Amino acid sequence: MKIKKKMQDALNEQINKEMESAYIYLAMAAYFDKENLTGMSHWMKKQAQEEVDHAMRIYRYVFERAGNVKLKAIKKPEHDWSNPLEVFEAAYEHEKFITDSINQLVDLSEELDDKPTGTFLNWFIDEQVEEEDSALGIVEKLRMIGDAKPALMMLDRVLGKRE
Ligand code: FEO
Repeated sequence: MKIKKKMQDALNEQINKEMESAYIYLAMAAYFDKENLTGMSHWMKKQAQEEVDHAMRIYRYVFERAGNVKLKAIKKPEHDWSNPLEVFEAAYEHEKFITDSINQLVDLSEELDDKPTGTFLNWFIDEQVEEEDSALGIVEKLRMIGDAKPALMMLDRVLGKRE
C-alpha cells in the first residue's frame, strides 16, 4: 500500500534530522582533530557515517512504499565546545532528541494505522537505546576522568578502536 503523504513527509523530516546528526558529529570530529584527540575524532567520524546510514535506511523505505524523498537544508552545526565532556554531553542530548523524534514517528504510524511503518521503525527504537547508551557511557567516563590527562589519553585510545 502506498505510503500516506503525512507519513511520507514526517519520514522526510527524519531523513533531514539524521543527515543533520551526521553533520553535527562531523563538526565534533573536527573539534577533536583540532585538539589532537584523534581517537575521539575517529569515534565521531564513525558516528557520522552511521547517521548517513540511518538516513539512507529511511530513504530506501520511502521509495519501497512508492513515496518520494525531497531533501531539505541542513542547519549549520555548533563548532565551539570547551572540553571533551561538553562535546559528549551535547551528543547525548542530541540522541535523546532523536529518540523523541522516532517515538513521535511511531505515534504517527499508529494514528494513521500504518503497520509497515510501525514495523520499520522498530529497528530505530532499538538503535536509539544503543545510541543513548554509548553516548552516556562516554559522558560518565569523562566525568570520572575529570582533569586527569593520562586517563583522557587512554580513553582517546580506546575510542579510536571503534569498528
Ligand atoms: Fe540516527 Fe544517532 O541516531
